[in-house]
Amino acid sequence: MPTLQRDGVTLHYRDEGQGICLLLLHAFPLSAELFVPQFEAFSQKFRVVAPDLRGFGKSTVGAGPTDMSTFAADAFALLDALGIGQAVVGGVSMGGYAAMAMLRLDPSRIKGLVLVDTHARADDDEGKARREELARRTEREGMEALIESMVPKLIAPDADPAVRARVERIVRAGSPEGAAAALRGMARRADSREILGRFAGPTLVAIGEKDAITPLERAREMAELVHGARLVTIPNAGHLSNLEAPSAFNRAMGEFLAALR
Ligand code: MLT
Repeated sequence: MPTLQRDGVTLHYRDEGQGICLLLLHAFPLSAELFVPQFEAFSQKFRVVAPDLRGFGKSTVGAGPTDMSTFAADAFALLDALGIGQAVVGGVSMGGYAAMAMLRLDPSRIKGLVLVDTHARADDDEGKARREELARRTEREGMEALIESMVPKLIAPDADPAVRARVERIVRAGSPEGAAAALRGMARRADSREILGRFAGPTLVAIGEKDAITPLERAREMAELVHGARLVTIPNAGHLSNLEAPSAFNRAMGEFLAALR
């Protein structure tokens, strides 16, 4: 994987194909490997770029909590380094929070948005406290704490065992410091409803029909905020719909991207 240095952090990323850039930002606590099915489906027709966000996969972590604005600034720095002006930005869950942070920083560079199993609201006090508890547990016990507490919610109960094994392997390869920093950053994130309400670019909102983390009404709320956005439900998928049901997900994304070309 090629790398980019930013603020003393080494960011690893994957970059394949040519044409309109599709920048993909992964969920917590995974890595760019979440997007293997999208590299396979789209890198013939598009330039698909996906970083391991700082603190995940092979990328190193910076000091303190990782704010969503830091992920966003990293993503813009990556686009700059690759000579890409505008991108269609797709984010799954935490990657969606980062995509909305990109929108807050510079909407002129967002050609379109794909918001997957994510939502626009900030954490309430209870949610913040739960994140801090999980951050401390992860620092104490390592990634197994996240596998135990999160994997059952990340994928549908009847998910293919191969998908479950793959998700566990990706989570296990991450670092407790990176995960704890992102948990603290997510707890501090801003509400993005107003930002979405101001965006007029093409937008697709996708949600797995069995998503146990993102309520359907939160996905619907995002689709209603962005003028002209489309909401699709991905059958037989949980919170990681692009990985659990790649055919249905890629069909929805393919139709959306085809309309942009
Ligand atoms: C994710 O999948 O990225 C997380 O569930 C996001 C969150 O915890 O809010």
